[in-house]
Amino acid sequence: MPLAHTHPIVDGRTTDAPLVRAYRGQLAQHTPVWFMRQAGRSLPEYRELRAGGDMLQACLDPAMVTEITLQPVRRHGVDAAILFSDIVIPVLLAGVDVEIVPGRGPVFASPVRTAADVAALPTLDGEALAPIREAVRLLVAELGTTPLIAFAGAPFTLASYMVEGGPSKDQMRARTLMMSDPEAWSALLAWCAGVSGAFLRAQVEEGASAAQVFDSWVGSLSRDTWRTSVAHHTARTFGALDGLAVPKVHFGLGSASILDLAPTLGADAVGVDWRTPLDEAARIVPGWPLQGNVDPAVLGAPWDVVEAHVLDVLRRGRSAPAHVLNLGHGVPPETDPTVLTRIVELVHAQGSPLEAA
Ligand code: CP3
Repeated sequence: MPLAHTHPIVDGRTTDAPLVRAYRGQLAQHTPVWFMRQAGRSLPEYRELRAGGDMLQACLDPAMVTEITLQPVRRHGVDAAILFSDIVIPVLLAGVDVEIVPGRGPVFASPVRTAADVAALPTLDGEALAPIREAVRLLVAELGTTPLIAFAGAPFTLASYMVEGGPSKDQMRARTLMMSDPEAWSALLAWCAGVSGAFLRAQVEEGASAAQVFDSWVGSLSRDTWRTSVAHHTARTFGALDGLAVPKVHFGLGSASILDLAPTLGADAVGVDWRTPLDEAARIVPGWPLQGNVDPAVLGAPWDVVEAHVLDVLRRGRSAPAHVLNLGHGVPPETDPTVLTRIVELVHAQGSPLEAA
């Protein structure tokens, strides 16, 4: 039942959090910072907890999800938690046979390659999302004034994994299906938008204060293809949040050519990968809050290099009405977590972007 209990955005607990303010285009006492994939293998406490266990099973254990989600918040003092889960969880909960192979990613027992395969996809029963709802409730109670970010995979990213059967370099089979059978393609993307939207909505209904859609493979599409065959499905994932008052973020990897269209998806803020400097992004989407875009590669460099790069990202971020500092993609597993903590301290020590201007 939606919003039956107190919701941090509705009861005001997180409405003034720097993260929520920034996603709405308002400045705060400091630039908020969190890291994509902040929970996970860069943390020894995560590796210890997960030792030997299956990744997707861990995502269905609310106590485990709560602990893993809180680990980076405790350790780094980031301005947000992001639910520990995976983009394929709603696909798994619909009844599709998928596993996460360590070091590789999601692998499907039966790839979806034909119109008949698409027609045979099961329907996601809302009840199946119960462990996700439970985890979010536990987290929101623990987090207090720190916002929880809900997330889901964009339909094209999910569909790519399902058609390829696993990770791929250029999403060749998926793009071939798109071109050879547009109807089956559209039905598949609509299915993906349905399950990712339900997953996202469940998290927000239980108390997440913001929502991000990961469009990780959008970079393999031309602008026109994305616009005609994909974008309206991504918009439907966001549309699942209609009526819920949380800011929404679109993050695409390699999304430079479609950045100006991101606001048309129904998002409030635009995530930028490391390839587009934020001052340039601010010219492409004037007036929009931006999130990004420290190059994950810098995390292995000496601290003075990291510091100069982060300060440069902050400076460029001032071209936008508000900026959430993040990486341009996920934390690499080999990252020394103390570097992430130092970045949070550095960003917070810069104080309000207003004063720095
Ligand atoms: O950001 C966070 O801390 C929240 C948790 C989160 C995970 N996956 C946990 C995870 C989020 C937001 C994701 C999203 C996700 N999953 C995306 C979109 C973001 C992106 O990276 O582009 C994608 C494409 C996936 C699919 C996926 N799941 C991949 C490619 C992998 C890596 C496989 C590997 O072992 O290298 C996973 C597994 C995964 N998801 C792990 C974690 C912590 C590692 C699993 C482990 O610990 O064994």
